[in-house]
Amino acid sequence: MEQVIVNDVAPRDGLQNDPVAVSPGERAELIKRLVAAGLPAVEVAAFVSPKAVPKMAGATEVAAALDLDRADFSALVPNRKGYEMARAAGMRSVALVLSATETMNRRNINMGLDQAAAVCRETLQQARGDGLKARAYVAVAFECPYEGTVPDAEVERLAGDMFAAGAEEIIVADTIGAGNPTRAKALFGRMTAAFGAERLAAHLHDTRALALANAWQALECGVRKFDASAGGLGGCPFAPGAAGNLATEDLVSMLHQAGFQTGIDLTALLDVVSGMESLLGRPVGGRSLPWLRRRLAEDQAA
Ligand code: COA
Ligand code: ZN
Repeated sequence: MEQVIVNDVAPRDGLQNDPVAVSPGERAELIKRLVAAGLPAVEVAAFVSPKAVPKMAGATEVAAALDLDRADFSALVPNRKGYEMARAAGMRSVALVLSATETMNRRNINMGLDQAAAVCRETLQQARGDGLKARAYVAVAFECPYEGTVPDAEVERLAGDMFAAGAEEIIVADTIGAGNPTRAKALFGRMTAAFGAERLAAHLHDTRALALANAWQALECGVRKFDASAGGLGGCPFAPGAAGNLATEDLVSMLHQAGFQTGIDLTALLDVVSGMESLLGRPVGGRSLPWLRRRLAEDQAA
């Protein structure tokens, strides 16, 4: 069976904008439970300004509470300072964020597009020189909440720029969940032809209930790495209108039904989602959760 790698971003994208503040210790526990459920990769923290994103404060404490050899743990870094903090915390993998439009970069990291690209290039080179795994998001890859539709050619140009600077992988991110299957086929088709599917990952949001359909198009184009968020939590505080990420349980459920393997134990993942509900004090979960829970209860009764 073909393998798909799922990177759970719930501890970062999932919790960065949640109404409930989750402590670094609780985030570390969540990460450990995700790894125990078989997640091979987790985005564990964002080394960002606590003034900009208060919910991500304590990234160093999160890293300190983890056995960093246990899985492919990465951290989001917006600038050189964030990178230095991530390296000092022992992180071995960092993800830079370059948004595809001028306004989104300004809102998110207080830099214009050219400056953001320069900072990303410089930081990617530094990370490679330090022996860290260095990846870059190209955010708002389909549509920007401020500037509208983003041309595929621009996403390709920015990705090419980041690869040239040493990025090992580009994460094509539909930050506000505005993609549709026709556009996803065109963009992932173009990107895989230009750079090779093995160097790309997809990060999708489910705002319009199209994240799975878009993921399927990326899969058809050969992409085998996906971000997803347990419980379907997520959204960027600087991208109005975004709903949660593609839920890990929805993605994994689809992949297993369609004959792909992920190494993830769905039963254990459902337990993690239930734990998140206790932590956040409300129901969460992807669209498949009621069916998955029912099936699990039937299996256990049998
Ligand atoms: N982590 C922690 N603190 C940081 C930092 C980082 N990566 N980068 C800068 N700072 C601190 C500076 O030391 C300074 O602190 P001080 O006020 O105590 O002196 C303060 O933040 C302002 O620094 P400056 O370089 O002027 O940053 P800024 O105000 O222009 O903000 C970012 C730029 C990138 C730090 C901020 O916009 C940010 O953290 N954005 C992240 C957004 C995000 O996470 N979005 C969601 C995921 S895509
Ligand atoms: Zn996201």
